[in-house]
Amino acid sequence: MNAPALPETLMSLAPVQGRELPHESARLHVTGEAAYTDDLPELRGTLYAALVLSPVAHGELIGEGIDRAALMAEHGVVAVYTARDIPGENNCGPIVHDDPFLADGVVQYLGQPVAIVVAREMVYAREAARNAKVAVRERPAILTIDEAMAAQSFILPPKGITRGEPAAMLERAPHRLSGRTHCGQQEQFYLEGQIAYAVPREDGQLTLYVSTQHPDGNQREAAAALNLGTHDVEVICRRMGGAFGGKEGQSSIFSQSAALAAWHLKRPVKLRVNRDDDMTITGKRHDFRIDYDVGFDDTGRILALDVTLASRCGYSTDFSGPVNDRAVLHIDNCYHLPHLRVVSHRCKTHMQSATAFRGFGGPQGMFGIETVIEEIAQALGKDPLEVRRVNLYRDPAVSGDALSLTTPYGQRIEDWIGDRVIDQLEAESGYPERRARVAAFNAQSRTRKRGLALVPLKFGISFTATMLNQAGALVHVYQDGTVSVNHGGTEMGQGLNTKMAQVAADALGIPVELVRVTASDTQKVPNASATAASSGADMNGAAIMDACAQLRARLAGVAARMLDLPPDAIEFRAGEVHLTPAYRQKDSETRLSWASVVKQAWLDRVGLSCTGFYRTPEIAYDFNTLQGKAFYYYCYGAAVSEVEIDTRTGEWWLRAVDIVHDVGRSINPAIDRGQIEGAFVQGMGWLTMEECIWSLKGDAAGLGRGRLLTHGPSTYKIPVAGDVPEHFKVSLFEGENIKPTPYRSKAVGEPPLMLALSTFFALRDAVAAVGGHRVRVDLDAPATPERILLACERVRSALE
Ligand code: MTE
Ligand code: MOS
Repeated sequence: MNAPALPETLMSLAPVQGRELPHESARLHVTGEAAYTDDLPELRGTLYAALVLSPVAHGELIGEGIDRAALMAEHGVVAVYTARDIPGENNCGPIVHDDPFLADGVVQYLGQPVAIVVAREMVYAREAARNAKVAVRERPAILTIDEAMAAQSFILPPKGITRGEPAAMLERAPHRLSGRTHCGQQEQFYLEGQIAYAVPREDGQLTLYVSTQHPDGNQREAAAALNLGTHDVEVICRRMGGAFGGKEGQSSIFSQSAALAAWHLKRPVKLRVNRDDDMTITGKRHDFRIDYDVGFDDTGRILALDVTLASRCGYSTDFSGPVNDRAVLHIDNCYHLPHLRVVSHRCKTHMQSATAFRGFGGPQGMFGIETVIEEIAQALGKDPLEVRRVNLYRDPAVSGDALSLTTPYGQRIEDWIGDRVIDQLEAESGYPERRARVAAFNAQSRTRKRGLALVPLKFGISFTATMLNQAGALVHVYQDGTVSVNHGGTEMGQGLNTKMAQVAADALGIPVELVRVTASDTQKVPNASATAASSGADMNGAAIMDACAQLRARLAGVAARMLDLPPDAIEFRAGEVHLTPAYRQKDSETRLSWASVVKQAWLDRVGLSCTGFYRTPEIAYDFNTLQGKAFYYYCYGAAVSEVEIDTRTGEWWLRAVDIVHDVGRSINPAIDRGQIEGAFVQGMGWLTMEECIWSLKGDAAGLGRGRLLTHGPSTYKIPVAGDVPEHFKVSLFEGENIKPTPYRSKAVGEPPLMLALSTFFALRDAVAAVGGHRVRVDLDAPATPERILLACERVRSALE
């Protein structure tokens, strides 16, 4: 069962595709009626859990690390559990099982859960956990990328790609420069924090209500921890209040702990952490140190590039393998790199395990190459857009270079439109005139400088772990004609369920009002991949189409019998039965309704429930060598940002943002636009304001380090409504996916985050203006006002 052969007919009958339906829960979100995990009515006898956290970044636990008797004596406490109480596997690592959900013997980060305290009330549990003394022999910790590289402390061996002869070509290039840059960590900062509510059922079974992107993962890991069959554990998630990758693997820390306590106590147990603990316990976006050595010609063409990536992965493997792979696979962004060597180091440090975050390594790779482009432009005194253009992927028929449309990992780009997206944006944003205006402003303004940047993006769609590219669905039709759609995806605010209702409605030929998409539930759709890699709508949509195509065929048979016509005479449209053109006589529209056909089907004892399945075709990729067809297709986009900085304070203003973004043929342009705007602002937060600050100073023995100091909104600054630029224009690129995704739409969840690179490079451009663009700029991300000010100071002192 591959891509269901539906799209072509679907398009002609598509009354809901492209309609700007509001998010299916919009009204419930606004009124507060939308039920999140914490809003579910609690069962009688519910107890509350809290976690005891390691006070040091690295050390050996003395005994179990806690004093059970002392903890049990705390007010309201009913039970205490440590790793010793886990009957099965102590793991919440999604790929490599190196991630204990309760520390055993050693602690490897400050904030690592050591014990679970269960109490009658949440306040008692939290109070007891906070008072707990953890007995631990502290060891020196490795915290920064530099420390890890010096100690050769790695979570996985290095990996990379070499194409052509980078070393020789670097020697021969007319120009050459090298440098180092950094981009920072980022906290997912979902509004709804991590939470799990575990309910014991009869005969040793468990139901887990979890705020999770991956119910199947929570289910399997809880079963393994408790020596249960996977069928004994059900995981349900109606919606999340945001996830952004932070609930792809690490929701298991909480679901495992709640499950363990509920299983022991045979009582419902809720575990909801507060924001400070959430930020202290869970992993963030990987920060990267990027070293580059580039050779180029007079036009700015990159002849050879040598890049070394080093990222901070934290204490366990988590998703660090595929995240760093994706950084390598996006080091090209939109550019043909004929001679390339890229090496990626995955550093082990004593902090939370860095995890998935929107873009999954892609943004970090692209940050690297875009820095290189800006450096080249600066060295040659060119507009960076000109340097971007000469390096773009190009049709080999035009370039004369057989590889000019083939990525360093050997995938031929079949759907290249990056140049057209840039052309459209350059025209729509008035880039050339604005470049002139910015220059004119800078010529007359001494203390304030403006900057402009146009940055394109290309982002590969598919999980790089091939087996994850599969999805399932379960569709029921009830006797009144209403439809219940279940799929393996999860709703985190991105509008997946709204799109899935649209897909199902069109696939059945009924009004969208007849469709309800239910909570994600492992007992309805099993073995589902995480809703991640932006693939939710593509894959679950195709699985739903598969189920709906089977149901439609059955119902066409019923209608055909009712009308005494062959099944191929029947089509369903807007909840009515119509005749296909071959059978249509003049104005002889039938009056059969969808509901009457469904009712007849029930009377005829025709099954009204179907499962659907989908696996993404064509992908053939070897993750050991990083070679092959890694992605089913690519998404494209480009953004222009214009900023102004105060060179005396580092303050800055985002004056205007223009975007052209490719979502193929949109299922729902309102939702897609919301994703583009939200992702842009989140990316801007990563690159300009969000900063994880760690205590790095220790005592003489190097102890006492490794506390995350920015563990709440008072110290960790995320963008707010006031940071949205006043001029914020988003255009959807007119086009369609060359692959038969639902309606030929494209994924939208992650790619637009990288549009925010334009804001960072506009800031860099403004700093460069301080030195008349003649002095090299040294600016790392996040470009906070402090960093902007220091970068301006460095430019000024270089001028003296
Ligand atoms: N949008 C909202 N509102 N909340 C989220 O948590 N997560 C993003 C993106 N958009 C997210 C979001 C991430 S990291 C991914 S991978 C995709 O949504 C996942 O959903 P999709 O595959 O349905 O696009
Ligand atoms: Mo998104 S980082 O793939 O959950």
